[in-house]
Amino acid sequence: MIKLLIFGPTGSMGKLITKLALEDKEIDVVAACDVTNIGEELAYIAGVKDPNNIKISDVKYLTEVISQAKPNVAIDFTIAPATEKNCLICAENGIRCVIGTTALSQEFFDKFEELIKKNHSPAVFSPNMATGVNVLFKVASILTSYLADWDIEVIEAHHHRKIDAPSGTALKIGQIISETLGSDFETIAKFGRQRGPNKRRVGAKEEIGIHSIRGGDIVGDHIILYAGPGERIELKHQAHSRECFTNGSIKAIKFIADAKEDKIYSTDEVLGL
Ligand SMILES: NC(=O)c1ccc[n+]([C@@H]2O[C@H](COP(=O)([O-])OP(=O)(O)OC[C@H]3O[C@@H](n4cnc5c(N)ncnc54)[C@H](O)[C@@H]3O)[C@@H](O)[C@H]2O)c1
Repeated sequence: MIKLLIFGPTGSMGKLITKLALEDKEIDVVAACDVTNIGEELAYIAGVKDPNNIKISDVKYLTEVISQAKPNVAIDFTIAPATEKNCLICAENGIRCVIGTTALSQEFFDKFEELIKKNHSPAVFSPNMATGVNVLFKVASILTSYLADWDIEVIEAHHHRKIDAPSGTALKIGQIISETLGSDFETIAKFGRQRGPNKRRVGAKEEIGIHSIRGGDIVGDHIILYAGPGERIELKHQAHSRECFTNGSIKAIKFIADAKEDKIYSTDEVLGL
């Protein structure tokens, strides 16, 4: 049985994942930590009728929560500074993490990987747990290899509460395109282009524009625009609901519980793409 610790159970993603995890026969939710709704019934917060007698704990007592509840897997969809702190504590304690939070630093990944190897606690990190998006990553790489001399732009849209911009998914798409083109993403990425009259567009090998829209309750849209002379192709993914992310997250929890290599897995490995 998987003994699961949930970070951020009161959040948009956390609530939905909590509901699915509480209803799953292979998962035993043993603890949940947040900065809000401390002491409240977890099942009530997630909208599940049967109480499981787990109350939300204050994340500042994480070490004590771990030693009492003894989870073997943790899932984290919170905010970058929280994930970076909490998941290092988990890896230090040999707990396997599934991370969906975006905008994490390279410094965190370096430390996290060291602990994963030291404590044999593999993890899954994915900026997007949706099956369709992970297929889009593959298709983008193929399309880019055929259209290397076209202009390529990435446009994403999310709800107005989203903290980071561009989205982690848009950044991953940009990295996939630059890798395929043999370019350095950090050098060629242009975020929300604005410039004077004397500059002109120079092609994707030298410049990939990444544009973010924030509005209303948009769950998550990503468009990759390939524009050539006299024609264009648009690859588009739209999340209709958060279900596509939560289903992928539950698969990731089950996958990581049995994973053998001490490393950070990606969603295409979880989904076997
Ligand atoms: N990988 C994916 O498929 C995917 C999908 C959707 C969202 N996301 C990412 O997941 C993250 C969360 O998104 P959301 O829309 O659910 O956000 P949200 O703001 O609705 O929820 C964040 C939750 O984190 C909690 N929190 C804050 N600090 C904490 C701490 N120190 N310890 C524990 N909990 C803490 C908050 O109380 C809140 O409940 C974002 O980074 C977002 O980009 C990833």
